[in-house]
Amino acid sequence: MAPLPISSIRVGKIDDVQELIKSKPNKVPERFIREEYERGVVVSSLKTHHLHHQIPVIDLSKLSKPYTDDFFFEILKLSQACEDWGFFQVINHGIEVEVVEDIEKVATEFFDMPLEEKKKYPMEPGTVQGYGQAFIFSEDQKLDWCNMFALGVHPPQIRNPKLWPSKPAGFSENLEDYSKEIRKLCKRLLKYIAISLGLKEERFEKMFGEAVQAVRMNYYPPCSSPDLVLGLSPHSDGSALTVLQQSKNSCVGLQVLKDNTWVPVLPLPNGLVINIGDTIEVLTNGKYKSVEHRAVTNREKERLTIVTFYAPNYEVEIEPMSELVDDETNPCKYRSYNHGDYSYHYVSNKLQGKKSLDFAKILN
Ligand code: OGA
Ligand code: NI
Repeated sequence: MAPLPISSIRVGKIDDVQELIKSKPNKVPERFIREEYERGVVVSSLKTHHLHHQIPVIDLSKLSKPYTDDFFFEILKLSQACEDWGFFQVINHGIEVEVVEDIEKVATEFFDMPLEEKKKYPMEPGTVQGYGQAFIFSEDQKLDWCNMFALGVHPPQIRNPKLWPSKPAGFSENLEDYSKEIRKLCKRLLKYIAISLGLKEERFEKMFGEAVQAVRMNYYPPCSSPDLVLGLSPHSDGSALTVLQQSKNSCVGLQVLKDNTWVPVLPLPNGLVINIGDTIEVLTNGKYKSVEHRAVTNREKERLTIVTFYAPNYEVEIEPMSELVDDETNPCKYRSYNHGDYSYHYVSNKLQGKKSLDFAKILN
């Protein structure tokens, strides 16, 4: 989460979307309007109720009993999900409902505060922590129909304590509790992912060192012309794993690119959406995919997501794992690099599909 030199970046006027719809509910300023080609083909919601058109669901309760038939069946499902979709939802994850509800409550209260209060925690141009819009680097860049609040959580050195809000009450405590649970979940998932690849359980944990964890809360207000805008531009995540919580009774908004079509992800009660980030794609030499995704908005209802990015320590050197490379049949696709350098590269460029991974690709 290293900042860029602020003085060199001119981002122009960035409207706060919540304020915008309060003052002019039916107007969509030019800077939010996307080109036709950016909007893409979407699988109709009728089709998405079909199993083929939904990201896989992994039942974590089946993975708590190693090494039964159920366990291996679920591991197989997990490996297929990571290869075919780069996305899955987990159910029965064991995180208490209160922890999930509490973070949702304070996040909602945060976005509901007056703008002056939220502006006490500004995301400065070129940085990615605080309240505002991230990944904006020029005056003519299109804006997403979204307000964001992002914080570095772990290790403590990446925190910017000035940005941890004093209001709403309980925000920091709830975020700490939530982040601890999500951290445990990520460690658990990485174990299962290692097993699914035929590796030792602790492989990722050992490699990652003191893992970096950051949270971003995305608030998507309703939009009078949802077809003209995007909630969040298409991108892949720079993390190893991402955990996405959609607020209760959340409408559909997240879309995953599959076979050149945007597939909406239907929220499951008490489910969490997990996706493979760029780091796991590189480590597995492309076997597990960091898949492009985006968020759209709708006319009636706001949508809130709480997204955790889990990644190796900045010191760690990343390269495809030797077990997953074979000079003859599966040559190495990515070069070796420092994860801190990759993070810096990621946050200093606008979101643009999978372009950030060009940083590491070996071009033939
Ligand atoms: C993200 C992301 C999707 C959403 O924050 O990286 O992909 O639905 N969010 O909020
Ligand atoms: Ni994402």
